[in-house]
Amino acid sequence: MQQYIEDRRARVAADWNLTNQIVLIASGELIPVPGGADQCLPFLPHTEYRYIADHDEPGCIVAFDPKSGWCEFRPPVEEPERVWEGREPVEWANDLRPMTEFAAWLDARKGSPIANLGATLPRIPGDAALTDAVRVTYFHTRRPKDAVEIERIRRAVAATVAGFMRVGEVIRPGISERQIQIELEAEFFRHGGTRTGYSTIVGAGTNAAVLHFTPSDRVVGEDDLVLIDAGAEIDGYTADVTRTFGAKGKLDGFRKDLYDVVLNAQKNGVERCKPGAEFRDIHLAAARDLAEGLVALGILKGDVDNLIERDAHALFFPHGLGHLVGLGVRDASGYLPGRERSTRFGLSALRIDLPLQPGYVVTIEPGLYFIPALLKDDDRREKFADCIDWTKVYGALDIGGVRIEDNVLITRDGNENLTVAIEK
Ligand code: GLY
Ligand code: MN
Repeated sequence: MQQYIEDRRARVAADWNLTNQIVLIASGELIPVPGGADQCLPFLPHTEYRYIADHDEPGCIVAFDPKSGWCEFRPPVEEPERVWEGREPVEWANDLRPMTEFAAWLDARKGSPIANLGATLPRIPGDAALTDAVRVTYFHTRRPKDAVEIERIRRAVAATVAGFMRVGEVIRPGISERQIQIELEAEFFRHGGTRTGYSTIVGAGTNAAVLHFTPSDRVVGEDDLVLIDAGAEIDGYTADVTRTFGAKGKLDGFRKDLYDVVLNAQKNGVERCKPGAEFRDIHLAAARDLAEGLVALGILKGDVDNLIERDAHALFFPHGLGHLVGLGVRDASGYLPGRERSTRFGLSALRIDLPLQPGYVVTIEPGLYFIPALLKDDDRREKFADCIDWTKVYGALDIGGVRIEDNVLITRDGNENLTVAIEK
């Protein structure tokens, strides 16, 4: 076994500090395409499994018993898999056993409480409270990226940088969202990408106001903003970058002013990333930057603290400032134990609530949007009549929105912006 996997397992076991409980981490099963066709959906191993096994085979379980240590169980590779998929037989070892031996391993530990991480194992009775507790610790242990993970993230970032550079070359009025996606993703793959880390978002004009827009055949208009949110994935690790382009390159007028407000909040957000900084505070500081900008633009009116308390800014910034990224687009995001998700509109979408630590990789992605589903609402129009210039807002609905996103590695004394090479 590779040393870095041994190191991961040692760290995880030490942090769990279990006595008589066992942990099963499953990779998940293949899902056949409905209706036959001899095909399965592309398989993505559960990230909790991938971290501890570092391969992407379906139907596997990594098992941990504090008394006997780690053992991985995999389905044997039989002739059909060799013939149809070209896979090689597994070389068994003391800690890598055929799945046929798993039942005996489990039987020998009858009565031990079971935590089931990764994919759910429906026929094995896991202990829900133990599973929750073990998962919380596991998330915390794997948040700081090790050297192997950082190297992969850097490669994913390099492919992502190449893709966005290509967009800079091809973007113009008349190109479609779909054509942009094709150019971007082709460049990802040319630079080592194995897949995209999530479904690529390309939204022109009003489509930029749909937070997770699927590229369509809409053609970019002369004055459109084009929001592109995408990341190349390599060996399970992804980048997650957003840039908002002007159709003709240079922005002017209200679109530029709006862009500059988001850019200011984004740059400040990156600067605030350092060990010990609470992500919630960084989010709230960005909310303040954005609210001040909206006041300067005449969209919001009144005292900024009061606007934020009332969540007026969140009608234009309805998501959290970011999340952890790396092993999957959300990696081990979440809240520290004891912290609850707020029910406040302006905070309920916060994906992480924890202090940043060296080795964390976090996205910083403020945005401002004109989203009809939020803004064309009579109740809100009345509630915010005193502090929102609704005439200006309705006049700006065709602008769509702006989001700018970088991936930031927290270092011992500050941070490194991994995706800074992509022009803003
Ligand atoms: N890249 C999409 C998101 O972070 O939601
Ligand atoms: Mn993101």
